Amino acid sequence: MKLILLGAPGAGKGTQAEIISEQYRIPTISTGNIIRAALKSGSEMGLKAKSYIDAGELVPDEVVIGIIKERLAEPDCKEGYILDGFPRTIPQAEALDNMGFAIDAALSIEVADSEIVKRMSGRRVCEKCGASYHTEYKKPGKEGICDLCGGKLVIRKDDEPETVKNRLHVYHEQTEPLKEYYQACGKLLTVEGQDEVADTTRLVLAKLETLI
Ligand code: AP5
Ligand code: MG
Repeated sequence: MKLILLGAPGAGKGTQAEIISEQYRIPTISTGNIIRAALKSGSEMGLKAKSYIDAGELVPDEVVIGIIKERLAEPDCKEGYILDGFPRTIPQAEALDNMGFAIDAALSIEVADSEIVKRMSGRRVCEKCGASYHTEYKKPGKEGICDLCGGKLVIRKDDEPETVKNRLHVYHEQTEPLKEYYQACGKLLTVEGQDEVADTTRLVLAKLETLI
């Protein structure tokens, strides 16, 4: 399966991607997680991206297109992949088409902005592997510790309310037009994000069944 996950910041792309990855045994490629890892390691790309991420702006297209091109060429992507957070602009979608990596569908998880703001304030992420938790909706087994790798759970810097507002603005302006882009080629699937993670997952998996 070759899948794109679309949706506003905090719509649950990362959360659903983890589940689909396990179910279908295909890797998730999250540009956000890759950029945050680069930032942590202090690499040149990470330093370049920092000011954009911290402000809730998009990192320049050529940087993320380069990341994706390299990552998709790795052997574990042969059987399929989930793109979480890429493409995010029309030029990124066009670049993906031109790279020759096919996709089966773009699945958009729809969540209202008011709900997003609530969700972001409770999000915690693993500083080691990037897995996502929530203080109310998705608690880890042991408080402050990642279930998957034992890493420490921290608050993302761009989850501050003012930054979230800008991320939502950027989403509506630059990323939401991708729904029309994929609708036009018959590849758009839509799911209404639910209050419970498991309820969203049920809807997502039902949609993916239609692809097999
Ligand atoms: P990125 O890391 O991709 O952030 P984002 O799209 O803003 O999305 P999030 O990761 O915040 O949300 P999500 O949809 O994955 O939600 P999650 O599952 O965590 O990108 C960060 C930055 O990197 C960007 O701002 C940009 O600067 C840069 N960047 C990345 N890709 C780029 C690109 N292609 N081009 C340019 N720049 C790029 O869920 C959120 C919370 O809600 C969690 O706590 C979760 O537990 C909880 N939750 C999930 N589902 C539910 C549910 N159903 N009910 C209740 N709570 C739920
Ligand atoms: Mg994410």
